[in-house]
Amino acid sequence: MLEDLIKEFKEIFKYDGEVETFFSPGRVNLIGEHTDYNGGFVFPCALDFGTYAVVKKREDKVFRMYSKNFKILGTIEFNLDNLVYNKKDNWANYPKGVVKTFLDKAYKIDSGFDVLFYGNIPNGAGLSSSASIEVLTAVILKDLFKLDVDMVEMVKMCQVAENKFIGVNSGIMDQFAVGMGKKDHVILLDCNTLKFEYVPVKLKNMSIVIANTNKKRGLADSKYNERRSSCEEAVKVLNDNGVNIKYLGELTVAEFDKVKHFITDEEQLKRATHAVSENERAKVAVEFLKKDDIAEFGRLMNQSHISLRDDYEVTGIELDSLVEAAWEEEGTVGSRMTGAGFGGCTVSIVENDHVENFIKNVGKKYKEKTGLRATFYIANIGDGAGRYVK
Ligand code: GLA
Repeated sequence: MLEDLIKEFKEIFKYDGEVETFFSPGRVNLIGEHTDYNGGFVFPCALDFGTYAVVKKREDKVFRMYSKNFKILGTIEFNLDNLVYNKKDNWANYPKGVVKTFLDKAYKIDSGFDVLFYGNIPNGAGLSSSASIEVLTAVILKDLFKLDVDMVEMVKMCQVAENKFIGVNSGIMDQFAVGMGKKDHVILLDCNTLKFEYVPVKLKNMSIVIANTNKKRGLADSKYNERRSSCEEAVKVLNDNGVNIKYLGELTVAEFDKVKHFITDEEQLKRATHAVSENERAKVAVEFLKKDDIAEFGRLMNQSHISLRDDYEVTGIELDSLVEAAWEEEGTVGSRMTGAGFGGCTVSIVENDHVENFIKNVGKKYKEKTGLRATFYIANIGDGAGRYVK
């Protein structure tokens, strides 16, 4: 495939010399959802599929970007001296925002580059196609301009690009998983301190199965920002009543139970209840996984979904139908929505002997209920972003 991408790059940009190649994965989160911006724990891993780039540095200040996924938009061009968000530049705003953020942080980038992107992560499916292209751009910049910057710093800049340039107030989980992923390991990340640990996954006779609802996410970004604001409001209320915290993730469920009566707004209370309980679930679940108790880990995945459905209200008929069908299947250890929600994907742990039936039956029930066709992937855990040679 890489050879084909290089060939296509050379045709599009009419160039026949040396090129550089890079790869950046997608991610899936196993538990700890909507906890990152609440200063809590997340437990994501990088996938072995993602976004590829073929790149050639230029002598002038022009960037020319082409995506095989958006052929109809052709080559998108912009200049180093004019890095502003432009709706018509569509997907190219992601890499553009990353270049802008690097410049704002005084990293020396003095020319543009030509790039061809190709991604095999379904777009808008909650598997972080946007973080993938952001971190991909960061590793390209580091490499082409020989920048002295480590991955965690790049991850933080990519989050700034997403928040400030794109305008989605996301936490740090996606960029972190995409940048810091490690083959066959899941990352336990404390989003408050950015301390992290690689946890090896020994699923033996089981697989991680991702199911895509194929539902377009619509107003997801604004609803996402609303959830985040509700949690911040809840923190303010607690602060006003003498509870000295910066994030909901600082409270255990027991501590929260003692002070939650201060939150009188019902919606805020539900959102905060999810944030606190999910954070605790993530911590407990990882302990079970470390002890090889996958059954308990799966049970907590199921509870995570219920909390996201009832308290955080970010699931919807599509995600609920997929998860409920998964719960009914023999061999399902756990199943939940993953990512921001409002469509996108579910993640399930399924015994290998039952995967085939799982896909068949869950797909059938989902189609009956929603009229939509789900897509299934067996997830392999891959490495984070970097140079790609094959
Ligand atoms: C999106 C955001 C992440 C995180 C998840 C929910 O993927 O980009 O920062 O908040 O939703 O866990």
